[in-house]
Amino acid sequence: MSHLLELFEESDAPRPEIRDASHNLADIVVGDVRTVLQSFPDETFRTCVTSPPYWGLRDYGTEGQIGAEKDIRDYIKDLVAVFREVRRVLTHDGTFWLNVGDSYTSGGRTWRDVDAKNKGRGMSYRADTPEGLKPKDLIGVPWRLALALQEDGWYLRTDIIWNKPNCQPESVKDRPTRSHEYVFLLTKSEKYFYDHSAILEPAIDPKQKAKNRRTVWNINTEPYPGSHFAVYPRQLVRLCVQAGSQPGDRVLDPFFGSGTTGVVCNELARRCTGVELNADYAELARERLLKRR
Ligand SMILES: C[S@@+](CC[C@H](N)C(=O)[O-])C[C@H]1O[C@@H](n2cnc3c(N)ncnc32)[C@H](O)[C@@H]1O
Repeated sequence: MSHLLELFEESDAPRPEIRDASHNLADIVVGDVRTVLQSFPDETFRTCVTSPPYWGLRDYGTEGQIGAEKDIRDYIKDLVAVFREVRRVLTHDGTFWLNVGDSYTSGGRTWRDVDAKNKGRGMSYRADTPEGLKPKDLIGVPWRLALALQEDGWYLRTDIIWNKPNCQPESVKDRPTRSHEYVFLLTKSEKYFYDHSAILEPAIDPKQKAKNRRTVWNINTEPYPGSHFAVYPRQLVRLCVQAGSQPGDRVLDPFFGSGTTGVVCNELARRCTGVELNADYAELARERLLKRR
């Protein structure tokens, strides 16, 4: 893996200015994040923005995929271990923006049928109902993970509700339709880089001043053609990257998927490194970075 160090060799090079976005500042490393991250030097990235596979919701069809653990405790353990390495490679003032969604217990079903609108949701397995929970229980995955990360040494600074005004309809009549996911802001240290002025909420009334960003973000989902999995919207990533880094900084996404984080980093003149297990998705990301959207 020593060749990976070449990615970081010019870390003292002058910071690039915002420039022609045709210049791609993103690199993709194909492999299992559990081994790839180990080869990255300490304190390399100013911020990490990512959306890991959600537990039991998608089948990425690759050996070694995270999210397919039968037991939720193993899923949480796997992610805590990955994110411990993320903490090592973050600068001392670095931030970690973690987008994660929730799910319900399976209620005894052992597989999930293919959904024509949402192809990645076909599953050949379905995880057992976690111990202590009942059929139809909301699992609370985001908070289980956030509290485990806090216990592992992260500072848990805020939860953010990503509200999706255009959320998918659900055929439920005994609870409201789920229209949000979480983004957690976690930090390595008590003091950290956070550019609040970069993500102010614009004033609606011109007589008023822009306000500090609130914790509910209303952002439409933005599917990317060709990807059969959850792609997060560029605007969600923009807010995290703008608050968590400056032009020229290095940004990490350990679960790169279709490369949304890289596309936004190119827009904002940040250098990005993405890690992705599935070579086909990495190829999709590569094509997407060239298209710049
Ligand atoms: C939710 S998707 C990320 C989507 C991405 N944020 C986007 O906008 O396209 C999670 C990704 O993690 C990848 N993944 C799963 N297990 C992995 C592992 N062990 N190492 C690296 N990547 C993995 C999956 O292949 C999938 O592409």
